[in-house]
Amino acid sequence: MKSSNLFCRTFKHGEICGLGSVGKYLDGFFQVPRTLSTSSEKPKTAIVMMNMGGPQKTDQVHDYLLKIMTDRDMIQLPMQSRLGPWIAQRRTEEVKKKYEEIGGGSPILKWTKIQGEALCQRLDKVCPETAPHKPYTAFRYVDPMTHTTLEEVERDGAENVVFFSQYPQYSCATSGSSFNAIFDYYKKRSIPPNVKFSVIDRWASHPLLASVFAERIKEKLLKFPEDVRNDVLILYSAHSLPLKAVRRGDNYPAEVAASVHGVVNNLKLQNIHNPYQLVWQSKVGPLPWLEPYTDDAIKAYVRLGRKNLMLVPIAFVNEHIETLHEMDIEYCHDLAKEVGVQQIERASAPNDHPIFIDALTEIVKTHLTTGLKLGNQFTNRCPHCVNNRCHQSKTWFKKVCQ
Ligand code: FES
Repeated sequence: MKSSNLFCRTFKHGEICGLGSVGKYLDGFFQVPRTLSTSSEKPKTAIVMMNMGGPQKTDQVHDYLLKIMTDRDMIQLPMQSRLGPWIAQRRTEEVKKKYEEIGGGSPILKWTKIQGEALCQRLDKVCPETAPHKPYTAFRYVDPMTHTTLEEVERDGAENVVFFSQYPQYSCATSGSSFNAIFDYYKKRSIPPNVKFSVIDRWASHPLLASVFAERIKEKLLKFPEDVRNDVLILYSAHSLPLKAVRRGDNYPAEVAASVHGVVNNLKLQNIHNPYQLVWQSKVGPLPWLEPYTDDAIKAYVRLGRKNLMLVPIAFVNEHIETLHEMDIEYCHDLAKEVGVQQIERASAPNDHPIFIDALTEIVKTHLTTGLKLGNQFTNRCPHCVNNRCHQSKTWFKKVCQ
């Protein structure tokens, strides 16, 4: 079955790497002392949370697919202006059905807003010099689209604008596409005077990211009987990538592997030594992508006698169609039943876990206090990149993030 999906240290809860900032949590929901996003207070620092987004309602599915299929950063097709719309049209009903099966829409906007609000509340406390901070969501293929968010940021008049990729692992197809969308917006306009731009483009090996995934894994290990718990095979499952992009030199596979090793080492420090494997999901089309595919790996491991499994969405920070449908329904329910899995669990995405909010806060705080506007790796192109947009976009960011 190939998926038909779319495309240290010990940190205590609420403590930011020795800063001693204590978060305010109540049963997983944040107590909101102030919410700048709904107030008229002018933000000093805008935190733009960038991601691909997902349809909120099924009537957005066609437009969403159309935008993906015609984005040449995301996917390169022959005669793309014709073939892209044709594929989007053909797949709409099937994808709509999947969204209906997970409740009618993607929760990615909900989670991104919760994360952004919590992050900015914490930043106001730990970085008073750049406060007030205000979160913005900039999606690539569905509202709130990047260009409308950038208009809002301009209207609000923040002095600092931090473009914060919500893909921990950088890929030219995902993070790169979102950054190119910002470049596209400013190609036609001048940057407002006195605004300072900066970029957080990747954070695959941040210790708190490892920490939150380790916590999510521990939650689900407890669901297995004690006598099999140590032998549960942990399958770290990330969105796959066409081998064409890997051959170009896309950093994504290496960054995903770095995240996996961070989690494995974190678990080892807690005396958890389960076997593990990195696998890849969500392949589309006939061309070769990164393997082993998650579904094939599940089948093969069951044949090898490994029947207690856990899936970990290592490249997803929010629940969305790839976790709620592909992992939960297609793999953990349908496939597991078909091939005779004994028990399979899926670790939750980081969502609003307090350690994840710590991670986001620590990443942005370090970024704001060190004053590094743009990492050198961002301007490094894939060795076999032939996309002139990458060159133009990276050159532009280098110029404006000084
Ligand atoms: Fe990676 Fe252009 S495809 S920099």
